Amino acid sequence: AVAEKDGFDHFMLKEIHEQPRAYRDTIGNRLLGAYPWVHLPELTLTPERIRLFRRVHIVACGTAYHAGLVGKQALERWARIPAEADVASEYRYRSPLVAEDTLVIVVSQSGETADTLAALREAKRQGAHVIAITNVVGSSVAREADDVLFTMAGPEISVASTKAYSTQLLAFYILALHMARARRSLPDEEFAPIVEALRKLPEQAEQALKQAEEIRSYAEEISHHRHLFFLGRGMDYAVAQEGSLKLKEISYIHSEAYAAGELKHGTLALIEEGTPVVALATQPELYEKTVSNIREVMARGATVLGIASPSGSRGDANLASRVDRVLTIPDTHPMLTPALSVIPLQLLAYYASTALGYDVDKPRNLAKSVTVE
Ligand code: G6P
Repeated sequence: AVAEKDGFDHFMLKEIHEQPRAYRDTIGNRLLGAYPWVHLPELTLTPERIRLFRRVHIVACGTAYHAGLVGKQALERWARIPAEADVASEYRYRSPLVAEDTLVIVVSQSGETADTLAALREAKRQGAHVIAITNVVGSSVAREADDVLFTMAGPEISVASTKAYSTQLLAFYILALHMARARRSLPDEEFAPIVEALRKLPEQAEQALKQAEEIRSYAEEISHHRHLFFLGRGMDYAVAQEGSLKLKEISYIHSEAYAAGELKHGTLALIEEGTPVVALATQPELYEKTVSNIREVMARGATVLGIASPSGSRGDANLASRVDRVLTIPDTHPMLTPALSVIPLQLLAYYASTALGYDVDKPRNLAKSVTVE
């Protein structure tokens, strides 16, 4: 069947709005019932083998790599295993330390990206166990990996990836919990609330979509600027990188994602009167520090859109009074915020692109799937 836009102006907007459904389908039967909560019968990996892994390498390109940055943090925090994330085109050439005790997770929406496929083959050649997180059944990556975790995003037509990224996050969260169970690294009293929070994400994604109008008016303002910054720490930094890429891909406005605490070591020099800054402050443990970084950019004249979460601000109801505007995402576990905070960032990129009159679904120079190295 020919893909339809279902009344949306572009595939990208349609796919952004499909995320609640895509979340539901990706969770599917994987988080049913009570203890042991996580079910991944599709994996051939046994708990014994999971316990023998000494390290995880996550390898992907573009947006899928950004999902890997979140996955790395979930694996380290919950499964307590050293994890690193690399872009596939760099990975093979830095002689990574790969052996039988290495789990390599390749992430690819299409399952056909040449760099990612080459990394997968090299990892297998060196004896690693390879899990693919992919959206396409029967794709090269799905066929060649030892194990596959499918995202249930459904076909993604827009070149700028949205629902594929966010369902990759969910796949990582579920896999990290599964590995944590095998490795007995996460106590039940911490495990259960995370599962609860994951189950709420589809409904909360729906709520997050309701802020579209507010974001559209902000997008129109920033569309007149040449460059902007995305700031955040921890999970917020990981999602900031995706927000920045999305904006660059389809609106051609230059932006940089910066670890909020690193800005003062150089890039603060680029903040001037009126520079737009999108500051994510959803992490309770990092809130005070991020607020002080927000003060630094405001003191140099930046106009700040804050993205907050109710329990991320440690009882400070005042982010709104500190910045020029604030958007609040629905409340969730701090590790899961990217699955909700990415939604306003996707909408921001979309509306900036349409405000400038660009062909959102077909950005210049980019392809949906890149099959050359
Ligand atoms: C291309 C697309 C990106 C995508 C990347 C990886 O560059 O334009 O949106 O993130 O490939 O694609 P994959 O299918 O491997 O996730």
